[in-house]
Amino acid sequence: MDQLTFPARVELARLPTPLQPLDRITEKYSTPSDGPRIWVKRDDLTEAAMSGNKLRKLEFIAGAALEQGYDTLITCGGLQSNHCRTTALVGARLGLNVHLILRGEHSGDMDGNLLVDRLAGAKVSFYPPRQYFREQQDIFAHWEKVYADHGHRALLIPTGASDGLGIWGYLAGSRELIDDCRREGFEPGHVVCATGSGGTQAGLTLGFHLAGMQTQVTGYAVCDDEAFFVRKVREDVVQWASRNNQQFDENSLNIAVSADYIGPGYGVAEVPVYQTIAEAAALEGLLLDPVYTGKAFHGLLQDLGHGKYRDCDNLVFVHTGGHYGLFPHREHFAFLG
Ligand SMILES: Cc1ncc(COP(=O)(O)O)c(C=O)c1O
Repeated sequence: MDQLTFPARVELARLPTPLQPLDRITEKYSTPSDGPRIWVKRDDLTEAAMSGNKLRKLEFIAGAALEQGYDTLITCGGLQSNHCRTTALVGARLGLNVHLILRGEHSGDMDGNLLVDRLAGAKVSFYPPRQYFREQQDIFAHWEKVYADHGHRALLIPTGASDGLGIWGYLAGSRELIDDCRREGFEPGHVVCATGSGGTQAGLTLGFHLAGMQTQVTGYAVCDDEAFFVRKVREDVVQWASRNNQQFDENSLNIAVSADYIGPGYGVAEVPVYQTIAEAAALEGLLLDPVYTGKAFHGLLQDLGHGKYRDCDNLVFVHTGGHYGLFPHREHFAFLG
């Protein structure tokens, strides 16, 4: 892995992020069933407003944009996309135009990530979900042409910045995590994260694989099924290998996805997820969100209870951020009284 030549990168994240033990969570959910010590990699602390996993990927996307003379970033996501919010802020920081293609009807209510998108000066276009999914490539091409007609060069960033370029973020992130764990005196048996577009999991899976470690990376899907994400993670890695002339047998990758805790669907959670969010905040001071990290962490706690991770001594949950996505769900916390 040391022979890898990393591409251009703009330093935006505050790295390394902390690795912290969650001993009260461990005591309650893990040790009664002879499970591992639970740790959290605080990638919610990559920055303040730009926080989260997307910043690691965008360091490389922004590097390519600046190196190749782009002056505009176009990307897409849901109304409360953390990726879009981070892109909006990164663009503002670097003096690039940002145009966001958002899925959903805009009610006029600006909340959470959408408010930050607007504060950061991003242009925002809303599309009904059917059109968004069916015509996504055409919508990207349309806006690329609009910018070109006005003398701009737009870089098109796929959903979640998950592609062969974006996954450098967690390839670098896995190195950082390996160093963190070594400093604490262990090699993690398992690393767990939320999976929404696959790039975080792809970078981590590839990183641990290239480091020759036995660590199992598991993504807890928040949308789409296991087969979808196994394919997507593999595709990102294959694209990474071909872009970087790496000889790589993608079938040697161990890609693990749990799709058991998606619940009713993307962005919709049930009461136990909200209860887990409240418990993590009260027990550990850890703020999770109902769309990504709360769902994944809830799935992890359930699986610990089922004895799933008993084969190791240390497990790391990667906190991928998403704080702003919590607030639009405020009405689901009425149980707090
Ligand atoms: C807070 C948060 N966690 C996790 C994810 C999932 O990461 P990825 O899209 O790389 O699968 C996302 C975005 O999709 C996110 O915004």
